[in-house]
Amino acid sequence: ESVSVIIPAAGQGKRMGASVPKPFLSIKDKPVLWYTLTRFLTNPLVSEIILVVSPAIREDAETLAASLKSTIPVKIREGGKERQDSVWQGIQAATPGNSVLAVHDAVRPFFAPSVLHDGMQLLKKFHGAAAGIPVVHTIKKTEGQEITGTVPRDSLVQIHTPQLFHASILKTVYEKAYSDHFYGTDECMLAERYGYKLAVIPDTPDNIKITTPFDLQMAEMLVKKYESSYWP
Ligand code: CTP
Ligand code: MG
Repeated sequence: ESVSVIIPAAGQGKRMGASVPKPFLSIKDKPVLWYTLTRFLTNPLVSEIILVVSPAIREDAETLAASLKSTIPVKIREGGKERQDSVWQGIQAATPGNSVLAVHDAVRPFFAPSVLHDGMQLLKKFHGAAAGIPVVHTIKKTEGQEITGTVPRDSLVQIHTPQLFHASILKTVYEKAYSDHFYGTDECMLAERYGYKLAVIPDTPDNIKITTPFDLQMAEMLVKKYESSYWP
């Protein structure tokens, strides 16, 4: 089976507040996006990558993709206003025959090596599957400053990417969401809305989304941790 990996990288990085867009922040002399792309380009399940960028990083993205000299094609498309709009551009650029679409944030270089394989197994029984880990914190509901309740922790999972779907299903839920003017924060949220069955792929806490300057410090540490084993 062949997986088209859609990588949204067209964000503004407002919470990071850096002068360089997040996918091109460097960790140990290489851009964040180098780590993420390399991780997929060395996975035998992957048949193409669709990298969705902002106009600001298009040229740098093209240069980076070309420098990787991979036999797996990297298509580059321009994104939209929201993450969902960017992913939609990616979905439309995927080669029609590919049966599985995986969506993965450009700014998560540290997903567990097993998630694509495990996700593919789950697609035999589910419409989609998303990487996630058990929630370690106690989560409260609030109204303003007041605590109004506690969400039972055993029912909570912190969801990451990759998120994998049968291609036709992901396309369908995106089309429906647009016709309903519905925006979600991840792919699963759309699939849930239209009644599809989804599973959690066990991931690790290392799969952080590089969002704030603190995460960049974490990322430095994680690149060191995986230096010899994770990237070629
Ligand atoms: N993304 C995208 N298109 C958008 C918004 C986000 O492709 N219109 C991508 C980001 O580039 C990132 C991923 O979606 O790889 C997750 O988004 P997030 O971490 O929120 O990144 P940003 O939106 O760039 O950051 P911020 O929300 O702080 O501005
Ligand atoms: Mg954002």
